[in-house]
Amino acid sequence: MDEVEFFRRLPEPVWPQLEKKLERLVRQRIDGWPLAYLLGWKEFWNLPFRVNRSVLIPRPETELVVEKSLSLSLSLEPLIIDIGTGSGNIAISLGKELPSARIIATDISLKALKLARENARLNQVTNVRFVLSDMFKAFRQGDLTFDLIVSNPPYVAQDDWQKLDRPVKDFEPKKALVAGQDGLKFIRQLIGQAEHFLKPGGFLAMEIGAYQAEEVARLLRSGWSQTEIVPDYSGFPRVVCARKMSD
Ligand SMILES: C[S@@+](CC[C@H](N)C(=O)[O-])C[C@H]1O[C@@H](n2cnc3c(N)ncnc32)[C@H](O)[C@@H]1O
Repeated sequence: MDEVEFFRRLPEPVWPQLEKKLERLVRQRIDGWPLAYLLGWKEFWNLPFRVNRSVLIPRPETELVVEKSLSLSLSLEPLIIDIGTGSGNIAISLGKELPSARIIATDISLKALKLARENARLNQVTNVRFVLSDMFKAFRQGDLTFDLIVSNPPYVAQDDWQKLDRPVKDFEPKKALVAGQDGLKFIRQLIGQAEHFLKPGGFLAMEIGAYQAEEVARLLRSGWSQTEIVPDYSGFPRVVCARKMSD
């Protein structure tokens, strides 16, 4: 229930069954469980998203990927792909904002895709299709070319995993976060493969780690134009956007 409902119902007795459940939840919270997993949902882009331990809890900084994507000059009926959709937060938010877009959302995790599909239903979004895929492997080069590729890929360096906050390290899926020795494994793959799956003049918009901007900008030096690094509200460079050069 929301806060207003909570205070309105404060004088009501709590049934023993419910009290037990509440005690269990409080104990889990003390043990470090993130609140979103206990509640089973998290708000993103003003929309509700169901979450469980198969998916990363959507973060506010990821809204910058949506914001940046919506600022691009896309065609009237753009074809968009979200790589590593998790709860579906980016793809579904874009689907809601761009009803005439066709969106494909992929993940390597079947459990994540199942939840993402539920989230599309929950938010009455019908223009997103969900595809199980390891990066672009489910797609043949040349079959489909996109106007926009979006992604919040795993980008934590293997050795930094141990340094993450306990609620993240202990409860969120490691596969959704860790990306090889330097954290750039998936970003490198995305940049390398994106050019084969983008239309000329198409865009790539992705979230990056706070200290990866310089290296990512270097990877985008040839074949790309209009490279832009967008800072989050704390001033850290967190989103990179670039345009594939026209032939
Ligand atoms: C950082 S999470 C982002 C989830 C969601 N898009 C968000 O912003 O909260 C990265 C996602 O990429 C997925 N993933 C990891 N390796 C992948 C791969 N090789 N191909 C496709 N998806 C992958 C993970 O399962 C996870 O859902």
